[in-house]
Amino acid sequence: MIDRVHRAGRAAFGALRRPMAKAYDSAENPLNHLGAMTVFFFWIVLVSGIWLLIFFRTSVSGAFQSVEYLTREQWYLGGIMRSLHRYASDAAIVTILLHIVKEFAFNRYRSTRWFSWVTGIPLIWIIFPLGITGYWLVWDELAQYVAISSAELIDSIPIFTDSMAGNFMSDDLLSNRFFTLMAFLHLIGLPIFLVFGIWLHVFRLNGPRINPPRRIMAATLIAMLVLSALYPAISHEQADLALIPQTLRLDWFYLHVFPLIQIWSPGWVWVFLVGISSVIVIAPWAPSQKKEKPALVTLDYCNGCERCVDDCPFGAVGMVKRTDGTSYSHQASVDPDLCTSCGICVGSCPTATPFRTSGSLVPGIDLPDRSAATLREEIVALGESKSSPHVIVFACRDDGLLPKVEAAGLPVVKVNCMGQLPPSYVDFTLSRGHADGVFLLGCQDGNCSYRFGADWTEKRLARQRDPMLRRRVELSRVAIGWQAPWSETGNAVEAIEAFRRSLEP
Ligand code: HEM
Ligand code: SF4
Ligand code: SF4
Repeated sequence: MIDRVHRAGRAAFGALRRPMAKAYDSAENPLNHLGAMTVFFFWIVLVSGIWLLIFFRTSVSGAFQSVEYLTREQWYLGGIMRSLHRYASDAAIVTILLHIVKEFAFNRYRSTRWFSWVTGIPLIWIIFPLGITGYWLVWDELAQYVAISSAELIDSIPIFTDSMAGNFMSDDLLSNRFFTLMAFLHLIGLPIFLVFGIWLHVFRLNGPRINPPRRIMAATLIAMLVLSALYPAISHEQADLALIPQTLRLDWFYLHVFPLIQIWSPGWVWVFLVGISSVIVIAPWAPSQKKEKPALVTLDYCNGCERCVDDCPFGAVGMVKRTDGTSYSHQASVDPDLCTSCGICVGSCPTATPFRTSGSLVPGIDLPDRSAATLREEIVALGESKSSPHVIVFACRDDGLLPKVEAAGLPVVKVNCMGQLPPSYVDFTLSRGHADGVFLLGCQDGNCSYRFGADWTEKRLARQRDPMLRRRVELSRVAIGWQAPWSETGNAVEAIEAFRRSLEP
């Protein structure tokens, strides 16, 4: 059942991605950088917020006027900053939503990856109050509506004895102290929690990508500036607690919850919000496929080179003092709780070489459920039944195009992640005559299930990262499937056939 939901999510994401893929290559497609895009929007919010703060008056009487001054008299800078502040906050909600859907659809939230998933929920609970308190500070009619509705929500929690809504009975009762508290929450308290929360969110990831590529940042900023100039954010009429606002333009990104208070009751809104959050929190523990065995270090073959530590995307490998008395000072050690069994460490290990002739093929680090020795056996077996020219496909097991390739009867060696394949295996396949060409099928959107598999593979084959592909291998005999233009249309079988024909003498 849950797999069907994942598939539906992936299909929806694919439908969204395809038009974007026409405009951007996969490295620059914003949909491949949703977490980082969210961080970028926060930067815009921060910088524009600092400008607004300089002119903002934190008092009931001064707030509205100071925002009006920025919007109307200083429209060329203050007005633009205000609009940027609002639109970047809204855009962050969109990217967060897509980020959640994507991590879920691509199954990146279960097993050892629960940590980033679960720490994402408090971020949502920080971001909404952050946006909502921002609307208060304008102190216009919308702020009045937001303030009274929020007070109703808070008053419905039984632990509070004093009524907060009482503060909004009249202008006289609304104190500057109360207003300053809101300003403190919006400007200092919640942003500090947010920064800490984002740090915690990516804490366990190795080399988290918190900045999108520069061109995306520049294009996004220009688009936001244009939007801000064309449709500047403006206030409603000044708040007047003696009057009930008649027409409001709600910001549906942040304020969608408030109409629910009128439709249901504050109590049911809480049940709804806490219910959704709880379901998301427990999602990683929903019945799932069994956890595979984590990577295993075999000391006899580990020379302590640290490549696996550098390449593991999840910080699951560390170096510890040598325990077997050999002359090497350190050895690799895997934390099974962090290991996703992606095999990228095997792809980086210099001892994972299929050319080894003495003894069995046991590298310094290996996946017990999909060992380096098994991969070699499968290559050798596929090399025996030859068409000419013969192409062996190495495919990520999660690749959406794999079922079609298998159904077409093409020779496939499956890897957990393309990063599991050491470049020496490509060399072995070609130089030992097991195939005339090698086709790598995986991560067709350039967005690896295990974060760095595609990147490391490209760099290893381009001889920019250890372990490098030997120079004797002709690159024309290696096709990197996800770089091909067809990768977004998904006709892998045709592409493999075209590659095969290109190898004909
Ligand atoms: C303020 C909001 C958020 C920001 C700024 C943010 C940012 C990020 C960043 C920068 C990464 C690292 C991406 C990478 O290097 O591969 C990441 C990963 C992740 N995020 Fe978020 N995120 C946010 C909210 C959420 C939420 C609400 C959820 C889910 C409930 C979530 C789930 C995840 C997961 C599961 C990963 C790890 C993916 C993996 O292991 O490959 N995030 N996030
Ligand atoms: S299998 Fe993947 S997650 Fe586990 S140690 Fe190796 S690189 Fe890290
Ligand atoms: S890459 Fe291989 S040899 Fe190097 S530290 Fe890791 S397990 Fe040991």
